[in-house]
Amino acid sequence: AIYTVSKTAPVNIATLKYWGKRDKNLNLPTNSSISVTLAQDDLRTLTSVATSETFSQDQLWLNGKLESLESERTQQCLQDLRNLRSKLEAGDSSLPPMSKWNLHIVSENNFPTAAGLASSAAGFAALVAAIAKLYELPESASEISKIARKGSGSACRSLFGGYVAWEMGSEADGSDSKAVEVASQSHWPDMKAAILVVSAAKKDTPSTSGMQHTVATSDLFQERIRNVVPKRFEEMKQAIQSRDFASFAELTMRDSNSFHATCLDSYPPIFYMNDTSRQIVKLCHQINAFYKETIVAYTFDAGPNAVLYYLEQNETKLMAFIYQAFQRNSGWDSKFSAKDLAAFE
Ligand code: DP6
Repeated sequence: AIYTVSKTAPVNIATLKYWGKRDKNLNLPTNSSISVTLAQDDLRTLTSVATSETFSQDQLWLNGKLESLESERTQQCLQDLRNLRSKLEAGDSSLPPMSKWNLHIVSENNFPTAAGLASSAAGFAALVAAIAKLYELPESASEISKIARKGSGSACRSLFGGYVAWEMGSEADGSDSKAVEVASQSHWPDMKAAILVVSAAKKDTPSTSGMQHTVATSDLFQERIRNVVPKRFEEMKQAIQSRDFASFAELTMRDSNSFHATCLDSYPPIFYMNDTSRQIVKLCHQINAFYKETIVAYTFDAGPNAVLYYLEQNETKLMAFIYQAFQRNSGWDSKFSAKDLAAFE
């Protein structure tokens, strides 16, 4: 027989950034983080897995291409899942011995690579969730998130939709470093995200090596993890729970800036944002100042593309500005004159 299941996992964008590992092999972070999941149908990875006694080796097709499953991170995820399945089989002899069989994995992203989104988070989350379902593992999503975390840190947050916290934990074996839901998507249904693609080029410094470099060389980083993030983590959860957009937005923007500041403080420095990214930052502050109300927040990951968060009722107000800014010089130019600003009234 061939057993098969499919599972999707959404892309998540951190509003409080994970940057720094205290254990590289287990992907244990130096701080807790928070993310907002983009709606399931918009940006997601769909993974189908099949297993059968007749398969001669583990195989992975990623967006239609045969890929290697050799990476240590992938192997660790597969091993953890097989161990859990094997325990289940030991307690119930009627279960097919899938833990000993090979897997065929087919994974597809519905977003273009050109969106410049890190696909590893949704990818590992979908892989782990699909196999957990195939194996009928009774473990909770938080438990399964610990396995996805070993694939890629940020992947643990894609096991949930909505607003998700990754609690850093303190155990050396990572047993308490897991994702938990802060609020469901329906808790704050008018929240929207827009991605401004600044460059589709592959990122300069991969996040894994970038964060190692920051931990090793930045003084500012120590201040960030000791005195800034712990307080911000509590404040951001609170802002989400009480649907306080102004606070959520300010914390999100400050955290993006703080993360990129530690990159700049690394030695030699790492640059993820470019001139266009900085124009977008200025434009967002200008929009909020113009409306005398916080209607938009920006955040940048390990690359120059912006993710904007805003409430649905402000979409027209926001996009009017964005289109205008973009069209004027076929680029981003935040230098609006008083006359330009008046045109938005
Ligand atoms: C800037 O999760 O890609 O997007 O654990 O080494 O795979 P690894 O790193 P990864 O890093 C994500 C960094 C970030 C911030 C975030 O998503 O929290």
